[in-house]
Amino acid sequence: MPKALIVVHYAGLVADMSAISRLADLYGFRIIEDAAHALGAGSPGVRVGDCRYSDMTIFSFHPVKHITTGEGGAVCMRDSALARQVALLRSHGITRDEALMEGESEGGWYYQQTALGLNYRITDLQAALGRSQLARLDGFIAQRRRLAERYEQLLQSLPVRRLPLVPDAAWHLYPIRVEPCRRKAVFDTLRSAGINVNVHYLPIYLHPYYRRLGFRPGHCPQAEAFYAGLISLPMYADLDDDAQERVVHVLKEALA
Ligand SMILES: Cc1ncc(COP(=O)(O)O)c(C=O)c1O
Repeated sequence: MPKALIVVHYAGLVADMSAISRLADLYGFRIIEDAAHALGAGSPGVRVGDCRYSDMTIFSFHPVKHITTGEGGAVCMRDSALARQVALLRSHGITRDEALMEGESEGGWYYQQTALGLNYRITDLQAALGRSQLARLDGFIAQRRRLAERYEQLLQSLPVRRLPLVPDAAWHLYPIRVEPCRRKAVFDTLRSAGINVNVHYLPIYLHPYYRRLGFRPGHCPQAEAFYAGLISLPMYADLDDDAQERVVHVLKEALA
């Protein structure tokens, strides 16, 4: 039985956390939410990051994400002992807090290393940048939701599969699926037209590192089938309506 489950809110769609937490109660594993795609997802009062059903939630502030600090991220949790442990590991495992020391403090200069941590700190300058962007997050999310609704309408008559248009998603990505045998040609046509499509993602265990650990194609057939036809269409807060319509127009021609 796994000790922990990392749940990815893929593309910014929130996984069914209450169902997953029932499994966690049954089998006794911990839950970490990977909300790198899902900052701002949820609805008022129920936001991703509240850790209602998980032990912790992580966010990424990489430049492609909803807000950015250049690099870095954040981790949220409810349990204060766990938060102290995470804060300790963030700074080399070093503490100046006498309550966390083993034995007595030797004076005001004294600190102890009580665990093996690394330097996981973002700088204060980066944090200030992130805080100022946080104030604009709801606006960014509203724009992404509007773009997802427009894609849903514009793609209605095309032979593509879409993710469900759920209201609480943060839409970091807008993935569609085409027939696997056509994916490469469609992708190349869009790229040749200057449209920056991508594919998110090759199932992680198919990368060489994991193959060396023994993983093989067929391990997660659903993920592999999903990947086979996958293309991410452009999705960013200031994608304008004309550009979005052009994406759909070129896609339509590529699929004709
Ligand atoms: C789902 C998911 N988790 C984690 C990460 C890692 O985030 P970071 O690069 O900020 O460590 C990414 C990065 O894109 C991601 O997409």
